[in-house]
Amino acid sequence: MSSDPFRDIINDTCELLRQSAKGRNRVVHLSPEVAQQLDARKTPVPPASPQPTGQTAVAVPGAPLASLQAEVTACTKCELSRTRTQTVFGDGSPTAKLVFVGEAPGADEDRQGVPFVGRAGQLLTDIIEKGMKLRRGDVFICNVLKCRPPGNRNPLPSEVEQCEPYLIRQLEALRPAVICALGKYAAQTLLKTNAPIGRLRGRWHFYHGIPLRATYHPAYLLRSPGEKRKTWEDVQEIMKVINGEVVPGQEP
Ligand code: URA
Ligand code: URA
Repeated sequence: MSSDPFRDIINDTCELLRQSAKGRNRVVHLSPEVAQQLDARKTPVPPASPQPTGQTAVAVPGAPLASLQAEVTACTKCELSRTRTQTVFGDGSPTAKLVFVGEAPGADEDRQGVPFVGRAGQLLTDIIEKGMKLRRGDVFICNVLKCRPPGNRNPLPSEVEQCEPYLIRQLEALRPAVICALGKYAAQTLLKTNAPIGRLRGRWHFYHGIPLRATYHPAYLLRSPGEKRKTWEDVQEIMKVINGEVVPGQEP
């Protein structure tokens, strides 16, 4: 118990909501007071500490991400830490409504420390800016793996397993309105399935209660431009949710 009983109630309620979302419950009834508090609580409430009189504690949106980033930068849990130039934590706004999750850094990303800056990255940037009419800096972009696999080989299951806790904590801190999984590795890791991307795309899934859309990876779209139309359809469904026109799970 902390010294603030209301904080304990809010924390318990958040845990209840998370558990309830895991059970695929879409609706929970809350008192207006609790609902209002939860609305205001986009990042976890830090432990209560005595405030000098006349001051109020505020949750800083970027703070949990910044400390997580420091952990990732120092990570040596897998062999990729020996071959990387640097880690690639993620890029964008800590209050983003939309988070893109890719596979792993490539050569350009490893060199610059920023996700999706190579050729596939240019296509993703075009999707965001020309397609969705958002600024790249307003969304958040990250990958399942934070380090480059040598020669851009596919991530190993052991690497995904060791790196996934960072992704889980990133999404927990960001709590976006929508997640977009780019390609098979992101979709299968987040949704805990082996289903192929062609079967996962085109409909809504949920990640701990957060609506998730899976679509083709931009690198795949560069090789198969005929599939761009399907990603464009996925992106339009995401925009409807961001614009409040559709609530996934409550479609007519
Ligand atoms: N491909 C990815 O999956 N992620 C990147 O950051 C770049 C290319
Ligand atoms: N294979 C992948 O890994 N991703 C795609 O988007 C398509 C095929």
